[in-house]
Amino acid sequence: MQRIVILTGAGISAESGVPTFRGPDGLWEGHRVEDVATPEAFRRDPVLVQRFYDLRREALGRVKPNAAHKALARLDAEWPGELLLVTQNVDDLHERAGSTRMLHMHGQLKSALCPACDGRFRWEAPLSGETRCPACSAPDTLRPDIVWFGEMPYHMDEIDRALLCADLFISIGTSGNVYPAAGFVDLARHAGARCLELNLDPSMTSGRFHESRLGKAGDLVPELVETLLAG
Ligand code: OAD
Repeated sequence: MQRIVILTGAGISAESGVPTFRGPDGLWEGHRVEDVATPEAFRRDPVLVQRFYDLRREALGRVKPNAAHKALARLDAEWPGELLLVTQNVDDLHERAGSTRMLHMHGQLKSALCPACDGRFRWEAPLSGETRCPACSAPDTLRPDIVWFGEMPYHMDEIDRALLCADLFISIGTSGNVYPAAGFVDLARHAGARCLELNLDPSMTSGRFHESRLGKAGDLVPELVETLLAG
């Protein structure tokens, strides 16, 4: 049975109404990355950074998983072999669709991190305003549990191990601009996996895949899952 590793990016949540990062309506169009997505930005202007992520956390209440998230959850439930879904997304749409064998490599909006004690806590409320760490009681230290530029993504050992054993690597809805995720195709391909990309537009890494299919995740992912489960 084939061992599958799937990488998802912002494109898989686009049809749910979550903005992607790059492109004309992307999140990074209205904000400079260095103003909201670096540890330096948080030290310089914590209120601005907390508000940016508070708004995005609050917006999760208005969106739902789409056909692509649901198809991957079905694959997770029905695939008898090893499977790992690695998402760069900080939304919770994969788990709300039902995926369980998954990792958030860039953190999660609904999680808070205390730099004083390294505690991580499920968090749904705004983080701007007064907060206290539930574990060490430090006042006003909690930050979004999001991997910012210059920080180390989560679960890299586990992800690397899965990529090195994969028979099939599938990348969905990511522009291939941000490493280490953009390098997963090279690792998987080098280890002998077949590499397939599903994306709306050609990505920065399209040429490194065996095959690239262009189109919307909501169309392409259910089709692919159907084919995989049909054997
Ligand atoms: P990007 O915004 O860079 O890329 C989204 C990709 O999705 C683009 O290549 C689009 O063509 C594609 N896309 C858009 N709509 C789609 C649809 N309906 N179906 C399929 N594809 C679609 O987002 P990411 O590659 O995920 O990191 O960005 C990677 C990282 O950069 C993010 O995790 C974030 C950001 O800075 C951090 O915040 C740490």
